[in-house]
Amino acid sequence: MMPSQANIVEMGARDGLQNEVAVTTDAKLTLIANLAEAGIKKIEAGSFVSPKWVPQMADSAELFRQLPRQQGVTYSALTPNLKGFEIAQSVGVDEVAIFGSASESFSQKNINCSIEESIERFTPLMQKAKQQNIPVRGYVSCVLGCPYEGHINASEVARVSEILYKMGCYQISLGDTIGVGTPLDARKMVEQVANVVPIDQIALHFHDTYGQALANIQACLALGVNTFDSSVAGLGGCPYAKGASGNLATEDLVYMLHGMGIDTGIDLTKLIAAGNQISQIIGRQNNSKVANALS
Ligand code: HMG
Ligand code: MG
Repeated sequence: MMPSQANIVEMGARDGLQNEVAVTTDAKLTLIANLAEAGIKKIEAGSFVSPKWVPQMADSAELFRQLPRQQGVTYSALTPNLKGFEIAQSVGVDEVAIFGSASESFSQKNINCSIEESIERFTPLMQKAKQQNIPVRGYVSCVLGCPYEGHINASEVARVSEILYKMGCYQISLGDTIGVGTPLDARKMVEQVANVVPIDQIALHFHDTYGQALANIQACLALGVNTFDSSVAGLGGCPYAKGASGNLATEDLVYMLHGMGIDTGIDLTKLIAAGNQISQIIGRQNNSKVANALS
């Protein structure tokens, strides 16, 4: 059944800016304020990872300290381990996300451990988050392909998703990290995951490297998925997935959903202005087709 309303989780400040030239904390704060002003209710604002691995996110604690909160908006961050969680919690993050992978090689390259070891690292974090009532989202990367291993079985995606879900993640976000998936595979993969995670607790996180993200989302809408991760101006990529481009542009997603009569609560004009501004700051073209058409 097609949803009448969709939730968008904005990735620009995290997944986007983690893989662009570093910008100032002030520029991030402006971007985040503009996104909230455009009506976005869920904003992933930073990540508490090793600053040696991802220097662009090294100011995340400072960012959260300065971040003016807007009522009804949730500001989240990535936390790969207990250390990251403790820092995140000390600066008042509303929500955190752990990130695992359906590919062994990607797990090693991204977080320097095997899938099993990553689960062990998440366990104490989950316990602490539960004690402190901080919601945890779970990402699974490489759900439609891996930059090192190529094809990934949907059964492996479902296996890792089920583990994260049973650990207490309130939502599982399925990442097509390198944007290689196509619609029928995307739908089959989501159907398999939906056997172990309720469909309304699944989110889709599709990078748009091959221009397939909108088609893939469209193919999954009828399954009842209604949460999508996207990045304003199509910012970003992934530092551990060479050649990967950014998430699907939020402007393109919002345009398609509105055109299909699916409400997002987002003001497209304000969103486009936010994307144009950050694109100008990092000195590149806005990667959203819709933003370019309407600017
Ligand atoms: P490690 O080397 O295995 O960890 O890294 P360690 O515990 O041995 O620590 C090594 C050093 O890192 C130590 O510092 C720790 O203190 C420090 P040193 O003694 O060398 O100075 N450290 C930390 N510092 C700050 N915050 C922390 C933290 N933990 C340890 N939380 C680790 C493991 C995960 C930390 C490392 O591999 C890392 O930071 N990786 C970066 C991962 C990352 O951010 N990737 C990009 C985001 S994931 C993504 O984009 C995919 C997604 O969008 C979905 C999709 O598209 O598929 C989510
Ligand atoms: Mg991503």
